Amino acid sequence: MPTSLLALSMLGATALAAGDSGLTLNRPAGEISADAAAAAWERIYAVLSHPRCANCHVDERNVPMWSGPSYDAPRPHGMNINAGASRMGVESLLCSTCHITSAGPNSVAHGAPHAGHPWMLAPAAFAWYGKDSVSICAQLRDPARNGGRDGEGLVQHILHDAQAHAFITWGFAPGGGREPAPGSMQAHLDDMLIWTAAGMPCPQATGDQP
Ligand code: HEC
Ligand code: HEC
Repeated sequence: MPTSLLALSMLGATALAAGDSGLTLNRPAGEISADAAAAAWERIYAVLSHPRCANCHVDERNVPMWSGPSYDAPRPHGMNINAGASRMGVESLLCSTCHITSAGPNSVAHGAPHAGHPWMLAPAAFAWYGKDSVSICAQLRDPARNGGRDGEGLVQHILHDAQAHAFITWGFAPGGGREPAPGSMQAHLDDMLIWTAAGMPCPQATGDQP
């Protein structure tokens, strides 16, 4: 890690949040009720399963999805795009050929969206497209399937994304007439702080799950 980044992380998370992420770390004080933790998870699930997030969190077939109000039904990315095992199209056509890297606003309807981080699929281990709340919850709390993160790591991931204007930031402000992920980046961070402080509780499989 460059010295400047190390120094920044040693200042503590609050300073980081007050810095250039634009977000505030509202760490919950005191006991969190089971109901409050479950409600926070339901809102987190609504975000993760929304097309603006799930369309990149796809399985090892490496095909991004197009979906949302502009499409009659979810469909594979047009133009036979396949991200390959690299998850960024090194094997055929780089995602960045069309999805430029820019933190500027997305304004063109049906233009290839962009973010401040080079466009690519999430690792296949992080695939949750089409999965239910029980499965995604188990996955998100499993360091083997979330990039080795504990609860604090998931919180920091949101802050770093905000600093870089990366993909979570884009999902809440996708532009071009796209429906944003529900809520706001700040509300998503608040929910992640509640859910992780409560020990990342997951809903029980009921048997009625799809
Ligand atoms: C353009 C594709 C793309 C979009 C859109 C996207 N992600 Fe991701 N996501 C990634 C990539 C790539 C990683 C791996 C980066 C890393 O681990 O640091 C990732 C990692 C993650 C992780 C950490 C790993 C895990 O599975 O726990 C979370 C949580 C996450 N994304 C949430 C979201 C949310 C919430 C949204 C929507 C608001 C979203 N992503 C939209 C590509 C995307
Ligand atoms: C030839 C140009 C081109 C390439 C290459 C390309 N895309 Fe796209 N992509 C587009 C266009 C154009 C759109 C917008 C389609 C629309 O809104 O109707 C899009 C939209 C998307 C979306 C949908 C975003 C959403 O939820 O609304 C995802 C996800 C995506 N691309 C991922 C990728 C990934 C991952 C790669 C690399 C493997 C890639 N794309 C390569 C042109 C491209």
